[in-house]
Amino acid sequence: MKILLAMAASLMLACHSCVITTDRMEQKPLDSQRAEAFASGDSIRLYTLSNAHGMTVELSNYGATIVAIHVPDKDGNIENVTLGYDDHAGLASGKSYFGCVVGRYANRIAHARFAIDGKTYQVPQNDGQNSLHGGVNSIDKQVWTARVMNDAIRFTRTMEDGENGYPGKMQVTVVYSLRDDNSLVIDYTATSDQPTVLNLTNHAYFNLTGNPESTILDHQLMINAGFITPVDSTLIPTGKLMAVAGTPFDFNSPTAIGSRIGAEDEQLKFGKGYDHNFVLDKSNPEAPAAVVTDAVSGRKMEVFTTEPGVQLYTGNFLNGSEKGRGTAYQYRTGFCLETQHFPDSPNQPAFPSTLLKPGGTFKSQTTYRFSILK
Ligand code: BGC
Repeated sequence: MKILLAMAASLMLACHSCVITTDRMEQKPLDSQRAEAFASGDSIRLYTLSNAHGMTVELSNYGATIVAIHVPDKDGNIENVTLGYDDHAGLASGKSYFGCVVGRYANRIAHARFAIDGKTYQVPQNDGQNSLHGGVNSIDKQVWTARVMNDAIRFTRTMEDGENGYPGKMQVTVVYSLRDDNSLVIDYTATSDQPTVLNLTNHAYFNLTGNPESTILDHQLMINAGFITPVDSTLIPTGKLMAVAGTPFDFNSPTAIGSRIGAEDEQLKFGKGYDHNFVLDKSNPEAPAAVVTDAVSGRKMEVFTTEPGVQLYTGNFLNGSEKGRGTAYQYRTGFCLETQHFPDSPNQPAFPSTLLKPGGTFKSQTTYRFSILK
């Protein structure tokens, strides 16, 4: 404990973005009640990253989860822009993947089945006949090993060969770094001792208003994508690409999320709103994958990623059963931009491959950068 405190103190002197480790014993400058609420047993703790601009990110090593992101609005009011729970029990029982890392295969795998080198693997069917986000009790419900770094927290987890049906013993590392330009950078790395498939993302739900009771329908969204991977009624990609031009999926110019969400459109019906993978235009590597703004608070969030796709999910299944922040989260009060490989890629040879071979290292980076609208 003393070592951690000393480490935190020396880091605070050494850099603007500081890492503070919180637990039951450390009272200040952190909210000790919150640290207490998210601690469990000997190994589950709340970690807080903070920077020189008053931005803080709370993380739990349970599920490598973003518990909260506090950012200023145009008047300097610092508020949480994510949906979240009030304590560890909320994280442990939550069913909507608030802020956690999902895998081994984020998004869906058709019939919960795929083959590698002619051998078929059956993974959990937890979404009708399909598999969603790696199955139940996957890495989002496991305790990761945490390490406090310079301006970052590193979480690591070993997934056993055969865990949830997936082949290969896999080492996964997720590093959350907070920069002084109000960027939260997420770096993923993974290796496996056998050929396997993987797709990793963070499942944070954002509401830039800071008010979790307000819907996200007035947020303006830009997604740098000319195509989506259209789905069938079970949200499995058909394998084709659909041009967004002239459809409610064209977000190439900033458009309110809610302006076309109720349009007569088969894809929107299947998703009960937006629940689709956008094929990112990678022609300009500097360009953001997505930009979201909220005119009232003046908050802006840019998303950058090395991934080929992003799932826009508009909280269509939120129904008040998840609770936190003094509310019961209602329909469409949060949106997710889940940077990822395409859904069901293990069964879609034309999609970018999600195969990971022994000796290879999977690397992926996603940045959420916050600023104020000019
Ligand atoms: C999926 C949704 C699902 C949500 C919560 C999203 O990534 O695309 O269909 O309801 O996660 O599980």
